[in-house]
Amino acid sequence: MIDQNNIREQFPILNQKVNGYNLIYFDNGATSQKPISVIERISDYYKHSNSNIHRGVHSLSRHATDLFEKSRHTIASYFNINNPQQFIFTGGTTDSINMVAQGLAKNYFKPGDEIILSTYEHHSNILPWQLWAQENGGKLKIIPLNNDQTLDYNSLPNLITKKTKLIAVTHVSNTLGLISDIEKIKTEATKHNIPVLVDGAQSAPHMAIDLKKLDVDFFVCSAHKMYGPTGIGLLYLSEKWLNHLALSKTGGGIIKSVSFEKTEYVEGALKFEPGTPHIAGAVAFGEAINFINRISIEKIFEIENELVQYAQEKLNELPEIMMYGKNTHKAGVISFNVKNQHPFDVGTLLDKYGIAVRTGHHCTQPLMQHLNIQGTVRISFAVYNTKNEIDFFIEKLKKVITMLS
Ligand code: ALA
Repeated sequence: MIDQNNIREQFPILNQKVNGYNLIYFDNGATSQKPISVIERISDYYKHSNSNIHRGVHSLSRHATDLFEKSRHTIASYFNINNPQQFIFTGGTTDSINMVAQGLAKNYFKPGDEIILSTYEHHSNILPWQLWAQENGGKLKIIPLNNDQTLDYNSLPNLITKKTKLIAVTHVSNTLGLISDIEKIKTEATKHNIPVLVDGAQSAPHMAIDLKKLDVDFFVCSAHKMYGPTGIGLLYLSEKWLNHLALSKTGGGIIKSVSFEKTEYVEGALKFEPGTPHIAGAVAFGEAINFINRISIEKIFEIENELVQYAQEKLNELPEIMMYGKNTHKAGVISFNVKNQHPFDVGTLLDKYGIAVRTGHHCTQPLMQHLNIQGTVRISFAVYNTKNEIDFFIEKLKKVITMLS
């Protein structure tokens, strides 16, 4: 039995008032809050362990290297990655996708090639591909949505051509919370030997990810949405791409030998991690995974799913509310609008009651264009949120609706 109070007590930031009200933090899709264990891990690292890694023979450097690599093992084991050298620490999801795009541009994409994305995509899984396409006469093709706003997988066979070189899709829509069926996408991709990239920024915080089972070519996510620090994330590569993805950045710490004529790089993920990495961030990412493991990601999914269903039911009772992507199979996120009202006004008034929500296009303008709206109010949950908070939010939302009408 999970003790919700015990979970909440681990998040010092939740224990504060905003505009005179207890903070209700419903903007976890943007970034989650951090438990004390993660906060202390960062400060302990700088107090007791700070040193550069993979370089020194002195004790402190070896200690920092051990912490960094131990964290790599914790993260690899959490995602069921056989070989911890198969994932790269990056600056986060955006950095990871850019690394793949730049790497594929060097030795894989040919002018005129096609890349398939979905209508759900966050700008960070559109722009790196769009930039390449614009510079190389390439084309982006888009998986459309069904009327219920799920992805239209039946469109895939028609979208795929001989020029299709990649399918890059989000695992969970950051705006709608709907979960993509990666198996269906993989089935089509495999028939044509097309690699698949999965943007896990919004799935990794909410649901169990087994990368051996998921078996895609690239998987990316960010620590800061998973109770970890900002500025660190990961890029998982299948064995094939570990050897074939071209380097897009180089520098110190990733070589066997360098001369002015020729450089020999180390094997595995390390060759993609030049320079001094975000060591404290990587160590704290591992600590965030320890936090998740103490509860279990399956339990977190269950808790958040109950919150989503509860909030959807309550919102459904309000005739002034228009909900998007209403579905039972979703992860942690609800988007809605108050009919005839701008989402910014709703969000600004909710903030007066200490309720933090995100408003706007959520970096998914093409999805907004499809829905024919400017934006939504988005509430997104984490394991520390409660039904009492949802009740308070609904009570204040009713007031906001009255104020605006
Ligand atoms: N991508 C983050 C969000 O959906 C920032 O809010």
